[in-house]
Amino acid sequence: MRIESEQTVYLKDYAPTPYRIVSVELDFKILEESTRVRAQLTIEPRKKTAPGTPLVLNGDELKLDSVALDGAPLKQSAYASDPNSLTLVEPPHRRFVLETEVTLKPEANTKLMGLYRSGGTWCTQCEPEGFRRITYYLDRPDILAPFKVRMSAPKAVAPVLLANGNLVDQGELGDGTHFAVWEDPFLKPAYLFALVAGDLGSIKDSFTTMSGREVELGIYCAHGKEAECTYAMDSLKRSMAWDERRFGREYDLDVFNIVAVSDFNFGAMENKGLNIFNDRLVFAKPETATDANYHGIERVIAHEYFHNWTGNRITCRDWFQLCLKEGLTVFRDQEFTSDERSRPVQRIHDVQNLRTSQFPEDGGPLAHPPRPDSFREINNFYTTTVYEKGAEIVRMLATLLGEAGFRKAMDLYFERHDGDATTIEAFIKVFEDSSGRDLSQFVTWYLQAGTPQIGVSDNYDAASQTYTLTLTQKVDPTPGEPTKKPLLIPVRFGLIGPNGSPMGWNGVSGGTVEGDLILLEGDSATLTFTGVANKPVPSLFRGFSAPVKVSTNLGQAELLFLARHDSDPFNRWDALQTASIALIANAAQGKAWSDAEVDALRAALVDTLDNPDLDDAFKAQALSIPAETVVSRNIGRDVDPDAVSEARKALIAALVSPVSDKLAAAYAALGTNAPYSPDAGQAGRRSLRNGLLSLLVAGSAQGAALAAQQFHDATNMTDRYAAMAISAHHWTADAPALLGEFRTRFAGDPLVFDKWLTASAQAPDHEVIERMRAILAAPDFPKTNPNRLRSLLGSFVMSNPTQFARVDGAGFRFITEAVVEIDKVNPQVASRILTGFRILPILETSRREAGLEALRALKEQHSLSRNVGEILDRILAG
Ligand code: TRP
Ligand code: ZN
Repeated sequence: MRIESEQTVYLKDYAPTPYRIVSVELDFKILEESTRVRAQLTIEPRKKTAPGTPLVLNGDELKLDSVALDGAPLKQSAYASDPNSLTLVEPPHRRFVLETEVTLKPEANTKLMGLYRSGGTWCTQCEPEGFRRITYYLDRPDILAPFKVRMSAPKAVAPVLLANGNLVDQGELGDGTHFAVWEDPFLKPAYLFALVAGDLGSIKDSFTTMSGREVELGIYCAHGKEAECTYAMDSLKRSMAWDERRFGREYDLDVFNIVAVSDFNFGAMENKGLNIFNDRLVFAKPETATDANYHGIERVIAHEYFHNWTGNRITCRDWFQLCLKEGLTVFRDQEFTSDERSRPVQRIHDVQNLRTSQFPEDGGPLAHPPRPDSFREINNFYTTTVYEKGAEIVRMLATLLGEAGFRKAMDLYFERHDGDATTIEAFIKVFEDSSGRDLSQFVTWYLQAGTPQIGVSDNYDAASQTYTLTLTQKVDPTPGEPTKKPLLIPVRFGLIGPNGSPMGWNGVSGGTVEGDLILLEGDSATLTFTGVANKPVPSLFRGFSAPVKVSTNLGQAELLFLARHDSDPFNRWDALQTASIALIANAAQGKAWSDAEVDALRAALVDTLDNPDLDDAFKAQALSIPAETVVSRNIGRDVDPDAVSEARKALIAALVSPVSDKLAAAYAALGTNAPYSPDAGQAGRRSLRNGLLSLLVAGSAQGAALAAQQFHDATNMTDRYAAMAISAHHWTADAPALLGEFRTRFAGDPLVFDKWLTASAQAPDHEVIERMRAILAAPDFPKTNPNRLRSLLGSFVMSNPTQFARVDGAGFRFITEAVVEIDKVNPQVASRILTGFRILPILETSRREAGLEALRALKEQHSLSRNVGEILDRILAG
């Protein structure tokens, strides 16, 4: 679709290609210096295509060595080629075979899209538009074809040769090289193509599917890392079993392989039968991986595996439909984790993530609908809005239809669309057809940007035992969308009586209520409940039933009442968060809290800690004080990050100091000598203990020493990292020494180095920028590895709010200067780091101006990538 590099692509311009690709045969000759790719594409015109219509294939930095049609070299006048395209001026009006040859230099491919080398291993990344960096092709997801791949390579450097599908042939070629032939019987778009060649170790296992087929499982990795792949393998088998149980989905090939590589732009990739993973999402052992790492591995292994049905068997018609596969697959991986671990804890975790990253995106200059209608660079649309808001939309469908109704609709989706490249409309249509519901208003969630703000007011009339509840919705304008339509908002709710137990009612009028769901359809609704015996406290948006912001009508007393009595664990947690945010936000804006308010909040927190019915993981989340960035977002304008940081610190100190001995005792009691296991129970216990440590470090005199002690005594990375990160985050007197020790102790382990980079980047002291400059300037800093760059710079922009947004602009300039350098190597990594500037609109004027000045200086640079250029322009325009 994209022809010229600065062109904007519009959804409304979608049209099928005049030609289709019937089948693909690829031959890779891999040598140390270069790789020669020969492609044989069987192509035919579509029925409606007029004779003489040119065929335009995509390329990206390609150089054509030769081209032939049905075995005969093409005349010069019959085609035109440049690095970005190959055009057949007048192809035959029948089926034909186009044969091309190109030579690639994988070693020099630092963008990590197409065929590149990571740690000596040849590997590929093709989503979304990387296949065109391998061969000239119709590189778009609505072109589906069977692929047969032959590859040869020197056996000494690449004893392992993998591609999609099943291995059908292999052998020696005599001259020290060998070959393998892989065939994938399933039609697939080119973005799911994958190839790996290298000297790799592996672990093997197998899985018997529900129909009794045996699937061979393999995880490939750098030699010596095999033992660290076992948790990933265990997660894979559990994912396969879960998809059969929950969705009736069985795996379809005889092999499923995963390869871990060190240089990778994102988390992982769902290539058919050959997933490729960032190694940080595969490797785990207790001494070097945290509980959060184990959790992440389980989640992403599941996510990529689930794509086999939601993404691969049913794929996207065009990249505007990305949310079709990503939102749905995130929903599926969230459900998997909920079933495998604790549902409420997972829900809180996912909502926290939504609030710390998606809400800021949706409320700033980079806001876009989950299904955008234009883009300059598709790589910039792999966003938290497409992924996480997309998952919330699917969750709302599940809420509206109920468990059985949702499963029925999903069954119909798989039945109707298996083998298709389809759209959001078709997905919604399935839900309409299977439920009989009209979802025409609901689709707006996909088409409109911005987070709805919900207003709540209520009234109780004792004389008539009538309770009225008024809900309003409003979405602020977002770039390109000055006016907004009302959304269909499912509000799961309950009324709670004065003694803390649920209250019923006789009748309700004035709006749509289905069981415990209110459906807010218009700008406002007033519901009248009759037969309500006492004044209730409303519990709204239980389980976070819609991705909205609620301006609550509840005061602190009612919030803390909910925190104690709500039967919905999510809302108990949320009530505490809301109560804390209110105090910090007010204080940051000069309105001090009263002692009584702090005492009441403390009492509620302590009650939570003491409650024997709650599990540790939940308590840990309930006791966590909202991050500075969450509070700032809540304030929403003229934010002074230093004031927010000070207010947050002061609140924690006020909460903690009278009970510091109690918290320290609870901290001590949670210690254990049990051997490490990543299971949810143990991980929950550690997270509560480390949560207490964080409160103690922030709010008591004894905390810093406890952290240093824990750092030295720790027998696993979870506890050691927590102690270091908490110390760094509060910049305790011990912090520099702990960072130094950590670095030496784990020297040589790149994934642990990332942890050190992250903790270092989050230190809120004034010298942090100078230290980061020194880290980057060190001759051995791996400047082309995305994990290293993101750990340092991504952590800084996203979670060091006071230093990134320094009033003197030093934080902003540090980042824009780094972005210029990174952009030359890897535009995807550069543009992602730059998105941190979306914070500017909510900052107070002098900081905002300093940020804009850094961006304007960046704009002066000529030769920015399209990735960085697009993000820069959108932030400057917003
Ligand atoms: N489809 C992948 C996922 O959601 C993510 C992905 C998109 C990706 N583009 C990528 C991964 C580029 C690596 C590189 O799991
Ligand atoms: Zn995905």
